[in-house]
Amino acid sequence: MSEHLHDLASRRKDYETAGLDLPDVDADPMVQWQRWYAEASEAGCVEPNAFVLSTVDAEGWPQSRYLLVRGADERGFTFFTNYDSAKSEQLTREGRAAMLFTWLQLHRQVRVVGEVQRVPDAESDEYYASRPRGSQIGAWSSPQSQRIPDREWLEQRVEQMAATFGDAEVPRPAFWGGWLLVPRRFEFWQGRPSRLHDRLAYTLLGEGDGDSWQIDRLAP
Ligand SMILES: Cc1cc2nc3c(=O)[nH]c(=O)nc-3n(C[C@H](O)[C@H](O)[C@H](O)COP(=O)(O)O)c2cc1C
Repeated sequence: MSEHLHDLASRRKDYETAGLDLPDVDADPMVQWQRWYAEASEAGCVEPNAFVLSTVDAEGWPQSRYLLVRGADERGFTFFTNYDSAKSEQLTREGRAAMLFTWLQLHRQVRVVGEVQRVPDAESDEYYASRPRGSQIGAWSSPQSQRIPDREWLEQRVEQMAATFGDAEVPRPAFWGGWLLVPRRFEFWQGRPSRLHDRLAYTLLGEGDGDSWQIDRLAP
């Protein structure tokens, strides 16, 4: 076993042994999430910011896909995508979504649900400007979720866009930007031996300032 895999295996064992109990967790679930994210990063989990976003389409079908989370603070979780995509259409219609983070190597999962809103344009501008030029041109070139003839069509679009912008700065397309999910429920799951896993659910009490979270233990 490589050094790295050995490290992960022993970390996983440490967390499984330590478990997850009320005295250990932060009263604020976002702080608790940040702690687990930091531990996943330190442990070398692959793409620790990857999560599954689930939405419901116009016919009531659940739809899931991976995204990368770009912000996690007291407001909620931020991610970026195409505003004309299937997911954005679903987020706009339903106004709510679920996020699922898994750090399998640590035997951990976090489920989150909440309401969604677009982030202010200035925030999308700032993030877009920080992206590599290739990704900026890619965003302009791809009508995300639409049917396209073939790969060549896409590659030609990229060439056309690159020629259009030349050496100029690439502005953010109005159809591309961020979403903020404001959590109202979290569930932290820690795998334990013999299927006796730990599950702690946080439910938001009240609306607006002075929010507090109720924490319940759920059966595995
Ligand atoms: C690990 C991973 C990370 C991804 N991150 C993003 C992302 O941050 N934004 C995005 O628009 N698509 C991302 N994708 C692609 C999406 O899964 C999806 O294919 C795309 O957003 C179109 O989804 P939709 O048609 O449901 O809107 C990612 C895919 C993977 C596997």
